[in-house]
Amino acid sequence: MYQQLAWQITVALTAVLGLVFAYIALKSGRRTEYAPLQKRAYRLRRGLFWALVLLLTPILVYSMSELPYDAAQRHKGDKPQVIDAVGYQWYWTLSASEVTVGRPVEFHVTSGDINHGFGIYDENMRLVGQTQAMPGYVNKLQLVFHKAGTYKALCMEYCGLAHHNMTAEIRAVESTPTGGRK
Ligand code: CUA
Repeated sequence: MYQQLAWQITVALTAVLGLVFAYIALKSGRRTEYAPLQKRAYRLRRGLFWALVLLLTPILVYSMSELPYDAAQRHKGDKPQVIDAVGYQWYWTLSASEVTVGRPVEFHVTSGDINHGFGIYDENMRLVGQTQAMPGYVNKLQLVFHKAGTYKALCMEYCGLAHHNMTAEIRAVESTPTGGRK
């Protein structure tokens, strides 16, 4: 849904930009005094700058609040389940593929060869969280799985022929009553 909105906005802005270019192309033949024109352009630029600041600040704040990463912070007292994830051309190895709903999980993500992208998607293929898998580095990704189900880890960075085959499954299950954890 957000992707579609972003796409529509991109198309609209591109159209506006196209109109601006067409306008400039049409007017480019006319000669006029430079100084007053420059002054007007600077005023316009300043106005546009502040309009953008006013428009983008609320969008930024709103989109930050939609990020999943703060969820793990709310569970600070809970010791996270650690899962080691290593990317290779073209597969993932996960030290565990089952997580508990509501309990924080900390992925330690690295790569055995070249750069990969580690992205976790829910059953509707909506991105839940992501980080990079880089050789020689371990990136930590904290997540809380809020819904039971089968999640997918996909490679998010083109890494060669079978990039699209780099998938792994992660199952999120409700905690068992005997497990003593809720
Ligand atoms: Cu690994 Cu794309």
